[in-house]
Amino acid sequence: MSALQDLIPTVNKLQDIVTNTNLTDLDLPLLTVIGSQSAGKSSVLENIVGKDFLPRGTGIVTRRPLILQLINIEKDDPLVHRADFEMDEDHTEVTLEDHLRKGGVGAAHPIQPAEWGEFLHIPGKRFYNFDNIRKEIENETARIAGKNKGISRIPINLKVYSPNVLNLTMVDLPGLTKIPIGDQPTDIERQIKNLILEYISKPNSIILAVSPANVDLVNSESLKLARQVDPLGKRTIGILSKLDLMDHGTNALDILTGKVYPLRLGFIGVVNRSQQDISVNKSLEDSLKSEQDFFQNHPAYKTIASRCGTEFLAKTLNKTLMHHIRERLPDIKAKLNTLMGQTEQELASYGDLNIVSKENRGSLILTLMNKFANNFISSIEGNSSEIST
Ligand code: GDP
Ligand code: NA
Ligand code: MG
Repeated sequence: MSALQDLIPTVNKLQDIVTNTNLTDLDLPLLTVIGSQSAGKSSVLENIVGKDFLPRGTGIVTRRPLILQLINIEKDDPLVHRADFEMDEDHTEVTLEDHLRKGGVGAAHPIQPAEWGEFLHIPGKRFYNFDNIRKEIENETARIAGKNKGISRIPINLKVYSPNVLNLTMVDLPGLTKIPIGDQPTDIERQIKNLILEYISKPNSIILAVSPANVDLVNSESLKLARQVDPLGKRTIGILSKLDLMDHGTNALDILTGKVYPLRLGFIGVVNRSQQDISVNKSLEDSLKSEQDFFQNHPAYKTIASRCGTEFLAKTLNKTLMHHIRERLPDIKAKLNTLMGQTEQELASYGDLNIVSKENRGSLILTLMNKFANNFISSIEGNSSEIST
């Protein structure tokens, strides 16, 4: 991992503090996925994570913002083999040591899985089974947003630790829709637009605007919204999904090479799993392989195949995020110093005698903030000499 990449986990930790303490004025960088309902937003996210874990289906499925932090860990990271964690109900608790003691590679017991998810609302529990992550997102969505198509602006926070992901923080949002159904209010379109705008209007937000290739780009809802907050297309990445569903004999080469719609960060084409692929349980691995084959063998796309697809998208996202963090560093650093000053003052105002249970929380927060801030600031300073433009 390069020194610059070390910044991203630190930013993620800061983000946790922000979420835990309602310190919402610390605007940290994130990638926000937007698009009309069924454009392929959740599919794109799953492909980037390399795991099936998001609720899917036709109609409105994503009904609360999902803040997803991907955290890259090494296969032999000590975190992976910590045994003091509650295990998922359908996994036997087996540490690497146990495994080796029982005969190593050929042993009957599997090595403890090295990928897992953790929800902020269930601290300390690791979800090793990604089907259970999906179920938990569904339950937690219904708990707040009801069971009948309603939406809520209160986010769900999920971290995914894996040796197979790049360090990224992403937000999955409800899709744009026009006609109210179920419990949805009559002004559902406006409500969802406002929710999306709340995330993408922040200057620290990088917008992943998903448009299905089988719908004319001039009708793309995601690009219309992105343009409202980013008129020069400086922090919008266009993602063109469903390239496999275009009418025979047509292609999107002009869009993908930037000749149709101006975005500084460009358009990246992807092919996600179709509903049929999902029905027959096609694995994500196979799907990524088919996606590569699609671009490499397509007469229109084979010359640009290296700049198409999910893998290229993930790399581009990581690079963009790092550049973005670098640009925002002076600002974040200043805000952090102000916040720490305020917290110190607040604690001082409690007086010595009152620092008991409730205030302990405050002092814990301060300690945490100090720790991460020092980390953060030293990584900024450590990196500034290596950063090239
Ligand atoms: P979301 O509502 O934007 O999150 O969209 P989903 O990711 O849930 O996808 C909606 C439907 O479109 C699902 O049935 C997917 O299988 C299908 N889909 C998404 N992307 C593609 C694609 O690139 N090609 C094909 N053939 N189907 C896709
Ligand atoms: Na959907
Ligand atoms: Mg979705």
